[in-house]
Amino acid sequence: MKKSIANISSAVLLLMAMGAGAAESEGERLFKTYCWGCHHQTATAFGPSFRTIANHRDKATMMAMMTDPEATSKVLGYRRNSMPAFNDLNASQKEALADYIMQFKDNK
Ligand code: HEC
Repeated sequence: MKKSIANISSAVLLLMAMGAGAAESEGERLFKTYCWGCHHQTATAFGPSFRTIANHRDKATMMAMMTDPEATSKVLGYRRNSMPAFNDLNASQKEALADYIMQFKDNK
């Protein structure tokens, strides 16, 4: 009897751990891995904040910036580009990141 209660509680703990993992979106996870060194959610860091970006750009522009920052930054009016291209991210990962950035838009 004791043993089965222990089993049930460890199963519940496991489910809770899985739930906590799922709460972090793919975009958030990718942001922390690839972008956080230079961009923060709402504060300006080396690059503009995600809030500023979301308020001024559409998703296609964000994805273009991840793919070809050299050319895209010129189009956006930057004189110099300091952001690397993210060639190892696929299109759906870039879209997940763009969706994540969009969450910081004011007055959605
Ligand atoms: C090494 C630092 C660095 C990293 C890492 C980085 N960025 Fe940037 N990012 C910048 C800088 C600096 C700019 C400003 C424009 C420029 O330098 O080309 C910028 C600009 C941008 C812009 C356009 C800003 C605008 O004017 O709207 C977007 C979108 C963007 N970054 C998204 C991302 C995403 C998403 C990631 C992660 C996958 C990322 N950046 C990772 C430095 C970085």
